[in-house]
Amino acid sequence: MTAPLDRPRRLRSTSAMRSLVREHTLRPADLVLPMFVREGAEESAPISSMPGVVQHSMDSLVRAATEAVERGVGGVMLFGVPEHKDAIGSGATDPDGILNRALARLRSELGDDTVIMADLCLDEFTDHGHCGVLDAAGRVDNDATLLRYREMALAQAEAGAHLLGPSGMMDGQIAAIRDELDTAGRQDTALYAYTAKYASAFYGPFREAVDSSLQGDRRTYQQDPANSHEALRELELDLAEGADLVMVKPGMPYLDVLRDVAQASPVPVGAYQVSGEYAMIEAASANGWIDRDRSVLESLLAFRRAGASTVLTYYASEVAGWYRDGL
Ligand code: PBG
Repeated sequence: MTAPLDRPRRLRSTSAMRSLVREHTLRPADLVLPMFVREGAEESAPISSMPGVVQHSMDSLVRAATEAVERGVGGVMLFGVPEHKDAIGSGATDPDGILNRALARLRSELGDDTVIMADLCLDEFTDHGHCGVLDAAGRVDNDATLLRYREMALAQAEAGAHLLGPSGMMDGQIAAIRDELDTAGRQDTALYAYTAKYASAFYGPFREAVDSSLQGDRRTYQQDPANSHEALRELELDLAEGADLVMVKPGMPYLDVLRDVAQASPVPVGAYQVSGEYAMIEAASANGWIDRDRSVLESLLAFRRAGASTVLTYYASEVAGWYRDGL
């Protein structure tokens, strides 16, 4: 019997030794908290498939966002839940629409202390639930949608968003929005492109979170889960069109895509741990099948390992709080 020559275990022997050689870290500033705000709500309302996540009222939104910022999160990503929907998603471009009002309120409360991000997509505002407007045949009309995105971008920039997150997967959306903003003198508003966004079952709980009206699916515009090269094509396009940051979504089922995009991208790359990923961790840990807090940290570290500089996660504020308390 020969003794091993190499003993990697030496570097795992104590907590201090492990800390010394740790390759990847997670800071509160790496995390972005997605938040939902509901029009007309007097108080926050729970989302049953996402225990711990709520649809906020305006006041509870401000309180929760302020707390998250005090804990050091890198930013908040806002989604609106309007009272009324229509075919073109009018509420998305109305300065008095819930999302734009909430952006303005957060900007006035928080100023530049954090990065205020806005979901730029029509699906929460349309009565058919699609991310764009429909043509006479009921198909999502790419170029007509770009006109709506231009208006929406301007409304969000004027409301005070620092960073817009176009998540509709329309062709040419980054170029159209960049052009609109620049023409309006809004060169400072940045774009966080949802570059590789897959048609995923893991968005399930999100549909409850935003009271989605969608029948059917988004497979004619979001990517096929069977494809990976396509993500690099989308990356090239978004970069050429002016994306300041790019994102891969969902997170855990697409770590390979995240790695590919991170290796190819000259701009910072983010990962979005979506509602279904959150729900899985919550459900399994509620049953006592996994350790919740360790699973949360492990899942977030996976994104950093794969190359994400930023992670959008419903755990952002909570995890930032753990670090503040010296974890
Ligand atoms: C579209 C959008 C979706 C999510 C973020 N932006 C839903 C979809 O594409 O169907 C999903 C986020 C999540 O599941 O946590 N506006």
